[in-house]
Amino acid sequence: MSETFTIHIDGQEIETVPGKTILEVALENGIYIPTLCHLSGTTNVGACRVCSVEVEGARSLVAACSMPVNAGMVIRTDTERVQKARRLIVELLWSSGDHNCLTCEKNGACELQDLVYRLGIEQPRFKINPPGYPVEDSNSMIVRDLNKCILCGRCVRVCNEVQVNEVLDFSMRGSDAKVGPAFDADYIDSNCVFCGACVDACPVGALTFKQARFQGRPWEIEKVRTTCGYCGVGCQIDLNVHDGKIVKVTGNRDYGPPNYGQMCAKGRFGMDFVHSDRRLTTPLIRKNGELEEATWDEAFDYIAEKISTIRDEHGPDSIAGFSSARATNEENYLFQKFMRAVIGTNNVDHCARL
Ligand code: FES
Repeated sequence: MSETFTIHIDGQEIETVPGKTILEVALENGIYIPTLCHLSGTTNVGACRVCSVEVEGARSLVAACSMPVNAGMVIRTDTERVQKARRLIVELLWSSGDHNCLTCEKNGACELQDLVYRLGIEQPRFKINPPGYPVEDSNSMIVRDLNKCILCGRCVRVCNEVQVNEVLDFSMRGSDAKVGPAFDADYIDSNCVFCGACVDACPVGALTFKQARFQGRPWEIEKVRTTCGYCGVGCQIDLNVHDGKIVKVTGNRDYGPPNYGQMCAKGRFGMDFVHSDRRLTTPLIRKNGELEEATWDEAFDYIAEKISTIRDEHGPDSIAGFSSARATNEENYLFQKFMRAVIGTNNVDHCARL
């Protein structure tokens, strides 16, 4: 059993264990501390300071997301000093970017917008001075608007630490600092594999899914949890549905294994086939040289009859079965069982072996 000790947050006595941050203990005990740069599952960098809290005896405010708890700590999360510091940080972030919620795809799901509202800021005290970067629109999947970037680094950490693609990083210094691939390349000209994790991690509208633009506001979208059908791994994903149409696919860390909210480019961006008018929706049987629509019963009877005839006339080894990586282990097991026990051949293979 690890040792426990007591700390106080906003007058509440809390028993906890070493190794946790102030933010973690606060969240576990239902105490709100705002965050922007914090991204669970990645390194705590303490970049934005929005989570500043007062710790008795400390010279200055401390970042709750990065400060480990110690025995006897007395923490205050909601004092005038803390609120003033948070307001200043948020005003500076607001004024240094182009945060026009009227047209921003993230309106309604933006963590900076939520903080502005929660802190009751009507206007920043500083002149709004966005950097004026061109919006990157050179690929069909992700739109990158660095004028909205707050340099929280969540995209950098998810790219490097979770996906381990190591495409994104900071470049330049001071007010010229920016995030992106090496040599300031567009995503499409970089090593980016378009997993989309950076878009999921972005707390503002700097990174958005291109296919989803103007396809539905966050509050109009229904998230439908499902299992990705592209391979047998079984990744848990959220289809974002508006008006019966999948507008984008997002991850959710809370779903846990096997993918913990992460996905590949196919699961992320390849769901438009669902609404394709070229999609096969019924079995087709070729009759007199023409493909004609058939029922499933007709199709199964046809297949069974043809396979039986071939086996009876030419022997079971004249038939081979080829299975798919899109199927589950259980389905592949059943398939090989069918080939061996029903057809009577060991001619069975799988596309993943190619
Ligand atoms: Fe703690 Fe940004 S959330 S410093």
